Amino acid sequence: MKHLRLNNKWVLVTGASSGLGQEMARQLANMHKANLIIAARRADKLNELKAELEKTAGIQVKVIVADLSIPEEADRVIAESITDGNLYGAILNAGVTYFGRHTELPWDNFESILKTNVIGVVRMTNNLVKYFEQPGKEGSVMLVSSMAGYFPVPYQAAYSATKAFITAFGSALHNELTNPEFAITVFAPGGIATEMTDNSKFNELKGWLMPVSEAAKEGIHAFITRKYNYVPGLLNRVGNVFMNFLPKKFIGGKMSKVYLKSLNKAQQGE
Ligand SMILES: NC(=O)c1ccc[n+]([C@@H]2O[C@H](COP(=O)([O-])OP(=O)(O)OC[C@H]3O[C@@H](n4cnc5c(N)ncnc54)[C@H](OP(=O)(O)O)[C@@H]3O)[C@@H](O)[C@H]2O)c1
Repeated sequence: MKHLRLNNKWVLVTGASSGLGQEMARQLANMHKANLIIAARRADKLNELKAELEKTAGIQVKVIVADLSIPEEADRVIAESITDGNLYGAILNAGVTYFGRHTELPWDNFESILKTNVIGVVRMTNNLVKYFEQPGKEGSVMLVSSMAGYFPVPYQAAYSATKAFITAFGSALHNELTNPEFAITVFAPGGIATEMTDNSKFNELKGWLMPVSEAAKEGIHAFITRKYNYVPGLLNRVGNVFMNFLPKKFIGGKMSKVYLKSLNKAQQGE
């Protein structure tokens, strides 16, 4: 399959107001000269990024303020992105987590995680697949999942389960596509230093976090080269393969100890 050529093409990035999405947007603009549609809830952050990138990269940026946990809002983001028929790629990156005992996660918060990480992503993917499966259309969609989708992380049970869904969904759909010029990639990072991990609960795990610029660079590489599944970082990739040879219960038990230690230390400091 041909690699994507992003120069002067329109690419949608959801969750571009911080972290991985913001950094991927920066690199897509500055290094690949893509025009961007950036979406998230925080209008101020998106407008700041638009001003920055139009100045530094000389590209065009459209801002869509939307709450992607609401299915109609997810539909609107795609409708506005494809209205002129010029959308070439989409990186569905927006996501939320909860780090703590699952029994302490209020139901409303759980539903919000499910709606943002799963329902919104499926709604957008459905609309994007209809668009890209038309004859003559070329492009790619990348779903941002997590290594937590391969190896369920204790104390992030709900989050891990949403990412397992996204990995299975995107990987299965990849092999249903009929347009040879269109692909779906699942990008599955390990821990990254972003707003998501910038709190005391992650203090004991900070040494494992990948700098966001590196994760973004590898994410864009996976997107452009239209990988099937891609884990950034050599150590993560080796670990991912190695862990397949160990009993899953054993890995889960070890992870449980590490995550609980970090959680307990944060709670003692409160
Ligand atoms: N950080 C990690 O360790 C890690 C590891 C593996 C995978 N990931 C995945 O990477 C992706 C990006 O996460 P990050 O680490 O960059 O976290 P982050 O800095 O917290 O960024 C999350 C982004 O998602 C947006 N978002 C959240 N809820 C939304 C909603 N309801 N509607 C619209 N936008 C929403 C946020 O924007 P607003 O708040 O402005 O709406 C923000 O731009 C997520 O899918 C995450 O699961 C992260």
